[in-house]
Amino acid sequence: MNERLRSINLHKKPNHVAVIMDGNGRWAKSKGMQRVFGHKNALTSIRESVDIASELDIQYLTLYAFSTENWNRPKLEVDTLMNLMVSTLKKELPEFMKKNIKINAIGNLNQLPSNARNTLADIIKKTKNNEKITLTFALSYGSREEIVNTIKKLCKKVVNNQLKIEKIDDKIINSHLYTFNLPDVDLMIRTSGEQRISNFLLWQMAYAELYFTEVLWPDFRKEHFINAIIDYQNRERRFGKTSEQIKVNE
Ligand code: FPP
Repeated sequence: MNERLRSINLHKKPNHVAVIMDGNGRWAKSKGMQRVFGHKNALTSIRESVDIASELDIQYLTLYAFSTENWNRPKLEVDTLMNLMVSTLKKELPEFMKKNIKINAIGNLNQLPSNARNTLADIIKKTKNNEKITLTFALSYGSREEIVNTIKKLCKKVVNNQLKIEKIDDKIINSHLYTFNLPDVDLMIRTSGEQRISNFLLWQMAYAELYFTEVLWPDFRKEHFINAIIDYQNRERRFGKTSEQIKVNE
């Protein structure tokens, strides 16, 4: 792994990596266990991803932990996920402080049970001055819902004469999204072989590189994260320009 790590070009790293942590249920099933066993084993993969992102000095890591659609799962699974989130956040707080990790959350957080909402608010407050890496959990998150909310907020401002329609541009829209304090996503990783973006950060991923791996999330380790970064570095991000223009500006 060290050799792979050394092949990373430190000047061409993604600044913001977003991850769809998929495959927990299938991983558990393949071991003859209940789905929630997969979610419990997902925590090691989260820890490894945070550690390697921090080692590589990747400043923003965003994890899709619970979508608006996930509320439709069996109650036992939803309750387990919420409890897992609360216990993990509480348990990991000393590590967040030691590793200088700032916790952030995006989504319709009002929908979370009160103990999850309160724990999250407490951890966000306690880690707010940390600055090595911003770890964002997308919880009760749906990108279309986020965009609809943003449109409503902007419409209200226009109606109340606080904003002129002509002033609306991508910067104004960015500043009204849940992700107002995050940069655009550079690299999106999805595990488990599914090749979709599933209503995740649609606006923020406009120019993101997409990386799909067959590895199921509970098996995802530092070396898999490194593979994704190396793959990203071998791509040419043109942002609509020509290859020649990009080379001149490099
Ligand atoms: C996808 O696998 C995974 C999830 C829907 C949940 C991931 C969330 C956690 C592991 C808990 C998060 C913890 C904190 C601290 C916020 P899946 O169940 O969709 O797997 P499948 O596609 O194989 O069924």
